[in-house]
Amino acid sequence: MIRPLRDEVERYGHYSLAAESMYDHPFQWGSKRTGPDLARVGAKYSDEWHVTHLTNPRAIVPRSVMPGYSRLAHTELDLTDMAAQLRTNRAVGVPYTEDQIKNAVTDLKTQLDPDSADRASFQKRIRRRLCAISTEALAIRPNSMRSSPTCRCSER
Ligand code: HEM
Repeated sequence: MIRPLRDEVERYGHYSLAAESMYDHPFQWGSKRTGPDLARVGAKYSDEWHVTHLTNPRAIVPRSVMPGYSRLAHTELDLTDMAAQLRTNRAVGVPYTEDQIKNAVTDLKTQLDPDSADRASFQKRIRRRLCAISTEALAIRPNSMRSSPTCRCSER
């Protein structure tokens, strides 16, 4: 249970809802969290901000206790078993479609490249999928996502 501390909600946005991590594997919920809830951090800062902050958090927040992840800049991303990972997650209940598994590597590369020609159609496909998942989740647990920011069915 995330404690919705008012100042945190004002600084970091709406706290995470259980339904938003129902497909997490491995399950990450614990009783102790150091650092903010990152559920709403998308689009809040520029890519450059994230690269600088992740490389050396203290370059942005001098008193941050967050460790740096500079090694990620030199670590090659291994995409070879991407489709197998999606298929394995589907076996434990994550509703990946056959289409998503088939396009696993292409979709990942599209997400990595802000200038990708496929970006707009990818975002439309993902938004439609997220709405479908939210609708399914709401059907299962009607009160779980009352104020979820991800469901924009009107844009379908
Ligand atoms: C790959 C792993 C991590 C990522 C991607 C990440 C990402 C972020 C981001 C984006 C923020 C800024 C949030 C905001 O201002 O809205 C943040 C802040 C913070 N994170 Fe992390 N974090 C990671 C790991 C950790 C770990 C392991 C710790 C602690 C042990 C931690 C502690 C903090 C703290 C204390 C802050 C607030 C101060 C600051 O802005 O630097 N983070 N993190």
